[in-house]
Amino acid sequence: MNISVVGTGYVGLVSGACLASKGHETICIDVDKAKVEQINSGVAPIYEEGLPEILSETIGKKLRADTNLREAILNTELSLIAVGTPYKGDQIDLSYVRQAAAEIGRVLADKDSYHVVVVKSTVVPGTTEDVVLPILEETSGKKAGQHFGVGMNPEFLREGCAVADFLNPDRIVLGGIDERTLGVMKKLYQAFPDTDIVTTNPKTAEMIKYTANGLLATMISFSNEIANLSAKLGGIDVTEVMRGVHLDKRLSPILDNGCRIIPGLTQYLAAGCGFGGSCFPKDVRALIAHGKKYEEPMSLLEAVVKINAQQPNRMLELLRKHFRELRGLKVSVLGLAFKPGTNDIRESPAIPILHQLQKEGAVLTAFDPVAEHEMRHLFNDSAVRYTRSLDKAVEGADAVLLITNWPEFSELPRLLASNTVLIDGRRAISKDAVPRYEGIGLS
Ligand code: UDX
Repeated sequence: MNISVVGTGYVGLVSGACLASKGHETICIDVDKAKVEQINSGVAPIYEEGLPEILSETIGKKLRADTNLREAILNTELSLIAVGTPYKGDQIDLSYVRQAAAEIGRVLADKDSYHVVVVKSTVVPGTTEDVVLPILEETSGKKAGQHFGVGMNPEFLREGCAVADFLNPDRIVLGGIDERTLGVMKKLYQAFPDTDIVTTNPKTAEMIKYTANGLLATMISFSNEIANLSAKLGGIDVTEVMRGVHLDKRLSPILDNGCRIIPGLTQYLAAGCGFGGSCFPKDVRALIAHGKKYEEPMSLLEAVVKINAQQPNRMLELLRKHFRELRGLKVSVLGLAFKPGTNDIRESPAIPILHQLQKEGAVLTAFDPVAEHEMRHLFNDSAVRYTRSLDKAVEGADAVLLITNWPEFSELPRLLASNTVLIDGRRAISKDAVPRYEGIGLS
């Protein structure tokens, strides 16, 4: 199939490159000329595992990037809209989606053959049919369902493993306004014959995406709330509590051969210093705002956000158990990315933690295997001393705060001095492996 992808952010570029690797002739469109050139030279503009390999496999063959949207729409039969939907004020900002729809519509006015426009960006339920479709009709002067199709195909890509997630999806959700649209959308994924496909309407597809992220975020905040109470009560380690909970057969089924399946889901029942990233915080807040708009308050999700906002502060409370005064205290913050495997620091718990420590006059050192450059935009060299290695980061520290569960931090027991306090925000290190240990959900 000939397809076009509008927007070359992590969703657009990963989707475009992966679909090209499955044999589709793919054009990725972006207004940023420099980015387009970079992609065409085979260089990935973002840090994402597997992306450089898949780009070099496809670029100049099945995949190319371009700034010319008109030519791309005219020469393809399906377009994915994969532009950003940042959270602004009290709702998601649809201006990029509107703009993309209007530009596509203006080209459809001059196109004779049937074209399908699919929204891949995360948008609140109703957006595809109530916002995108009318813009397409208005700007093209044509009728949806007759001259062109409109669909919604949410992404479920975790940052850091987006390529693997795209190539080995848990499920594919296709929301289309009619059977003809769905038929074309199915062709897009015909190289995934073993994957479960949910075919539905666009509004349900949009709701599936928000519900999936809302559920995972709820489980994290639930675990963190239990962790905080466990720590307050004393004598309880939340990791043991959660192990006991995981062994419910409904969470980890036992197969006929007696083996137990340990689903990835139980990972979300592990306590920590809070979730971040570009999806969970934004999606949960957007769903809350949508509920408010329709006078259906999302009380549970409001609590999820509230608990998460307080969680970084738990790290500082644990620190204060050992040090009354933070002024002049040498504190090392390990992990700046919102999770391992990415250089994305958006909504990372490290940000409020660094802010508070800075405010209280701590002497700050930070280390992250890949996200240092990004954090320098928020905290420059005079605020934080960045080190290039883990051993340099912890040398001479009074306290070390583990914020992101990077695998290299498993070396900490070997590196920490006997008087350094480790505050483990991810329960990554065994509590008996270092002399002075504090962890979320443990007292
Ligand atoms: C998430 C969804 O998993 C993905 O399906 C969706 O499309 C986009 O949002 P992502 O934000 O990349 O993906 O990361 P994920 O690995 O799900 O982690 C999200 C956040 O939750 C991270 O900050 C992580 O540290 C945190 N988390 C995860 C916890 O705090 N505790 C956990 O037990 C698990």
